[in-house]
Amino acid sequence: MDSERCREVLARGGLSREWPAEPMLGGWYTEEEIEAANEAIRASFDPAVGFGFFCDEIVEFEQKFAAYIGTRYALSVTSAGTGLDVAVRALDLEPGDEVVVPALNFRAAPYAVLGCGGKLVLCESDETLNADPADVEAKLTPHTRAILVTHMNGLSAPIADYLEIAERHPHPKYGPPKVLGDAARALGGSYQGRKIGTGAWMTVFSLHTMKMMTTLGEGGMITTDDAELMARLRGLRQWGIVESEDLEIARGKRGTGDAGWGSNYKLTKVQAAVGLVQLRRLDEMIAPRVALAGKRSEMLSDVPELTLPYEPADCAPVYYLYNLLVPREWAGEKRDQLMALLREEYGVDTVVANPPVYQADAYVRRMTPGQSTPRSEEIAARLFCPPTHPLMSDEDNEYLCAAISDAVAKLR
Ligand SMILES: Cc1ncc(COP(=O)(O)O)c(C=O)c1O
Repeated sequence: MDSERCREVLARGGLSREWPAEPMLGGWYTEEEIEAANEAIRASFDPAVGFGFFCDEIVEFEQKFAAYIGTRYALSVTSAGTGLDVAVRALDLEPGDEVVVPALNFRAAPYAVLGCGGKLVLCESDETLNADPADVEAKLTPHTRAILVTHMNGLSAPIADYLEIAERHPHPKYGPPKVLGDAARALGGSYQGRKIGTGAWMTVFSLHTMKMMTTLGEGGMITTDDAELMARLRGLRQWGIVESEDLEIARGKRGTGDAGWGSNYKLTKVQAAVGLVQLRRLDEMIAPRVALAGKRSEMLSDVPELTLPYEPADCAPVYYLYNLLVPREWAGEKRDQLMALLREEYGVDTVVANPPVYQADAYVRRMTPGQSTPRSEEIAARLFCPPTHPLMSDEDNEYLCAAISDAVAKLR
């Protein structure tokens, strides 16, 4: 955006509304979701029906989700956090077993590993904010059981690369480390012509109120093609019950098989009913985000200091967040100045999503003594993410770009 246009846009005034740096999608329901929720509640009045342990809405939601992603199976759970717990539990880690996880991350994946008694091995990310395959390989040892990568901010991590690396470094007892994905922020994105959620051993999605679609604020889904794994996940989700005759078992008409430990991580019927509508609308909710990101990149393309989001040719990202990097010389203090300037003078909120998890989280720091990822620290010190939301107007997007261009010019 040239300086004249920039001045014009800024003269028009500020944002039409406050946009938090990481806005909620949660408000974007239609009458259809409300109707679906009402119907599911009304249909549950009958004492013989209730909300069900395992109801048609949940089964249908899972089948449609699996069909959307292109996997054989999908299993709904209460959140991505619990989904990741269940996923790592399915590895049956033994003392000393290691799981490689990128340091630039939300705390959920590292916590899942630590919660299951695994040794958390942190690896570097590159400028895509996804785990750097070369460093993943460098971090593998004969104790590595899995590589658990996060598809950061809506861009697919290069799963095929990790799978190839895993093949080259088999665990002496369990074979190639499993590759798992945390796609909490990446539902609907594609990689090598297929949806994120395929290819890996399993992938976990979030249906939390901030994410690409939501089931009344909380929810999660796990996708896989592996039938044996799916049976195990079912058992973990619901008291060791692996068959579909859950209702009979719950009513005491059948005993359970011995599928080992399980607990209760089920989504509710009303959430599933709403999820079916949101899933139908998913692509239509993603499209405006992608369009907005495209226009933003075009408008910011003449700001030489900024590195814009990188879109590998084999990826279609969904832009849960829109990442910008300042130059190396601006890392840290000057980036912080830019973020403060944007907030104070232009009313534009931004966030660093995410710094290395051992810097942001005391528990992870305590559990990873001596580990550091200097390249990721540097990337995080250059990173800032302005808000993005499918309902953001072109005018607000343009104002945001003018504010960023102007603020960068002031610090130049
Ligand atoms: C990358 C990532 N993984 C996992 C989670 C956890 O998701 P949930 O809120 O569904 O537990 C989040 C939530 O912000 C996330 O950003």
